[in-house]
Amino acid sequence: MEGTKKCQIISRSWIQPMLLLVVIALVLVGEVAGNVLEDPQPWERYLRDIKSQTSPEDQAEAVGELLKRLLPERAKDFVVRVDPSIGPEGRDTFMVNSPGVNGSVDVAGTSGVAAAWGILHYLKYYCNAHVSWEADQLDLPETLPSAQFNVTSNDRFRYYQNVCTVSYSMVWWGWQRWQREIDWMALNGINLPLAFTGQEAIWHRVYTKMGITQAELDEHFAGPAFLAWGRMGNIRGWGGPLTPSWHNQTLALQKQIVTRMRLFGMFPVLPAFAGHVPAGLTRTYLLDPNDPLFQTIGSAFIQEMTSVLGSDHFYNCDTFNEMTPTSSDPDYLKSVGAAIYEAMTKGRLLVLDLASEIAPQYNRLESYFGQPFIFCMLLDYGGVNGLFGNVDVLLKNMEDARKFPNVTLVGTGLTPEGINQNYVMYDFMNELGWRSTSPNVSSWAIDYARRRYGSDDPRLGRAWQLLMRSVYNDATHTLNHGQYVLVTRPHLDVKPDKIWYSVVDVITAWDLLINVAKGENNAEIFAEDIAESKQSISKPNTETEDSYGDHNAVLDRSFPQEQPSLNIGSQEFYLDKIKQDFSNNKNGEIRQMNHRNTQELQHNRVRRSGFVSNTADRMEYTDKASALSQIGKNSLNSFHPRFETSMGKEDEISEANMDRKLIRDGISASTESNKRTGKYGPQENESEMDVEMELESNSDPRKNGLEARNKSVTNQATFQHDLVDVTRQILQLVGGQMVLRLVQNYNNNVLLALQESHILLQELLVDLDLLLGTSPDFLLGRWVDASASWATSEKVHKPL
Ligand SMILES: *[C@@H]1O[C@H](CO)[C@@H](O)[C@H](O)[C@H]1NC(C)=O
Ligand SMILES: *[C@@H]1O[C@H](CO)[C@@H](O)[C@H](O)[C@H]1NC(C)=O
Ligand SMILES: *[C@@H]1O[C@H](CO)[C@@H](O)[C@H](O)[C@H]1NC(C)=O
Ligand SMILES: *[C@@H]1O[C@H](CO)[C@@H](O)[C@H](O)[C@H]1NC(C)=O
Ligand SMILES: *[C@@H]1O[C@H](CO)[C@@H](O)[C@H](O)[C@H]1NC(C)=O
Ligand SMILES: *[C@@H]1O[C@H](CO)[C@@H](O)[C@H](O)[C@H]1NC(C)=O
Ligand SMILES: *[C@@H]1O[C@H](CO)[C@@H](O)[C@H](O)[C@H]1NC(C)=O
Repeated sequence: MEGTKKCQIISRSWIQPMLLLVVIALVLVGEVAGNVLEDPQPWERYLRDIKSQTSPEDQAEAVGELLKRLLPERAKDFVVRVDPSIGPEGRDTFMVNSPGVNGSVDVAGTSGVAAAWGILHYLKYYCNAHVSWEADQLDLPETLPSAQFNVTSNDRFRYYQNVCTVSYSMVWWGWQRWQREIDWMALNGINLPLAFTGQEAIWHRVYTKMGITQAELDEHFAGPAFLAWGRMGNIRGWGGPLTPSWHNQTLALQKQIVTRMRLFGMFPVLPAFAGHVPAGLTRTYLLDPNDPLFQTIGSAFIQEMTSVLGSDHFYNCDTFNEMTPTSSDPDYLKSVGAAIYEAMTKGRLLVLDLASEIAPQYNRLESYFGQPFIFCMLLDYGGVNGLFGNVDVLLKNMEDARKFPNVTLVGTGLTPEGINQNYVMYDFMNELGWRSTSPNVSSWAIDYARRRYGSDDPRLGRAWQLLMRSVYNDATHTLNHGQYVLVTRPHLDVKPDKIWYSVVDVITAWDLLINVAKGENNAEIFAEDIAESKQSISKPNTETEDSYGDHNAVLDRSFPQEQPSLNIGSQEFYLDKIKQDFSNNKNGEIRQMNHRNTQELQHNRVRRSGFVSNTADRMEYTDKASALSQIGKNSLNSFHPRFETSMGKEDEISEANMDRKLIRDGISASTESNKRTGKYGPQENESEMDVEMELESNSDPRKNGLEARNKSVTNQATFQHDLVDVTRQILQLVGGQMVLRLVQNYNNNVLLALQESHILLQELLVDLDLLLGTSPDFLLGRWVDASASWATSEKVHKPL
């Protein structure tokens, strides 16, 4: 096999082990080998020579099919054309003209991806529509608006996926969900997606041919839920073995995936050999790239894979991903790097700068010494949830990259380890593939709210402005945001959650969303109060040490005794908690619970549940152990009489939910429309899905303009999702403080206070459960169902 190459991380990992994840490489195995390239940027021409193998007509037809899936009723209003010659060479261009020749929206693109990208551009900026992983907002005006625009991408490529995404988010996806994702990619201009599904099936064939036994392979492959780490060589056999039916199904799925990707004119990036081998092959699990066998196996794999899947000449490979090299001796690493590099002609390596939004590497490596690279936003480590992003830092880093002398930037990309969180950041990042200057984030936030919810309600725009400048504007250079007190393993040495944002901003945004959900307008008054009292802080404080202090000053002034908008039981309760915690905890210290506080809490409890507990009874406990054991038994019973009787019965729990008033107005609506649970789920029955879409659109009057949609915001899946998401952020914030206080009270043997903090925490967890239970987007059920859907027999069903 000509030109089979291998590659590895080329970051200088012995200097910064943390950055091991950050740089990997794609190998281009070219048909045009031997091309003598003499211009200063040889890769430019080389990359230009890579052409889609799908005809323009077929690409246009694929986009037509996408339109039918996305807009079943409006697809006929669009005319799609693909013509690679309509824009400058080596980049992508789309042109939209509406009304076009026959009154239609005429869309032309240099590829299927470019045309689809143009369609989303039109939907976003002319129809105020929105498409995201979990939910769309596609209420289009009766008459499609006129538009004339041409847009050319900044770069050759838009890359997507991390080698971990397949495990954190996509592991159980069937074809329906993959199809939806590939549509999403096309609509966002992504033309260089990772395609890693089913590679174990290929490995199985390769190793079997090499004489490795089934038993040895069973010990080698990690199970379905752990494939990413098995591939990287971090683990072996864990959660396995893989069944023959798994291999069969995943390989069939992979064929569908790459076929569809190519139909849009994308270049799927296939896996390559990274050195992780079954024990039966040699005496090692990780083959040294200098070993001749490395080349042999790598070739055999590429050969087998391309015979099944074809090739677009892009392969992804990283040798030391999430693992420590056998030696950290610079000479060893240098020799490994040299061995790999030697096998490649310059210009055949495409580097992914994996977390450029926060820790770009190209600038300390002279733009990879002349090799092309892609500027990627990683953002999410470990598939964690929560609201986080660093919009200003991202924009600054992007600008710097474009200005860097002799920069070899050829694309932008998304490399999250898990998806389905922080939609706004990915939407934002995708736009940097065509924007020539940084957008005004404040006005962008308003536009985003309008598109996401299909409403002009100023409260929504304001909420997103606040979120974008607070939780989404971390300037502390925190890489990993997912480690909240509430979700880390319980222990007695907890550290407070890192707060990089103005808590007031997030609370105000939350309040605005809740008021929209309740159809009330008084949040604006509240928001104005806060805005006034907050004028001294126009920006969140970015110095961690001081951020508590600063926010406190604001908090004290921002919570007037009379809060006109706060009339939902739980919301008021949590606002009280936040006010207490964040206005008294200078430097993040935990306030010692004293008698007065206990009374306050008791008061809150009473107000909230309408239930007076017998404090005197609980004063009787004299030792920690009996207090703890009693707390466990009594707390739910004393504070959740309804919960007690309904424990274990789902319908009654949801009744308890209503009783608890947990932002019920906004969320109860979601119960109905969240029957869309399986809409993008795996192995969907397509005809059922069509019926569901039809029903949804029939029930909608679809009147002109935004006014008509102004009233139905609370029925938008996008809104319901965000309401749960922002509320969860608040509960997490409060919950973190509750855990800290619990631990403090435990350590200090303050028994009454310990009981109180325990009860509060337990109640918060119940609230969190109830809250998340209102939206399938946050539940494990889909995941479990999807995994079981892979089972072809009872025997296989059980482990899945
Ligand atoms: C416009 O309609 C005519 C008649 O149906 C058709 O021949 C022509 O191809 C259409 N043009 C475009 C750009 O769709
Ligand atoms: C887009 O480009 C086409 C072809 O070059 C040109 O005819 C058209 O006027 C352009 N449209 C706009 C809005 O610039
Ligand atoms: C896998 O597919 C092959 C060919 O399609 C078939 O012969 C084989 O029985 C299948 N194996 C399983 C376990 O489904
Ligand atoms: C950029 O490239 C040119 C041509 O190779 C070279 O003369 C110049 O020194 C480079 N600039 C920097 C800052 O590396
Ligand atoms: C950005 O937009 C906001 C509101 O949309 C506006 O008030 C502000 O002046 C804009 N900033 C710049 C620099 O244009
Ligand atoms: C939507 O509703 C909000 C709040 O009631 C109102 O301020 C706004 O003007 C409305 N927008 C339209 C387009 O009617
Ligand atoms: C899909 O659903 C339709 C209507 O419910 C049914 O007739 C058809 O058999 C189903 N197809 C599959 C493959 O389950």
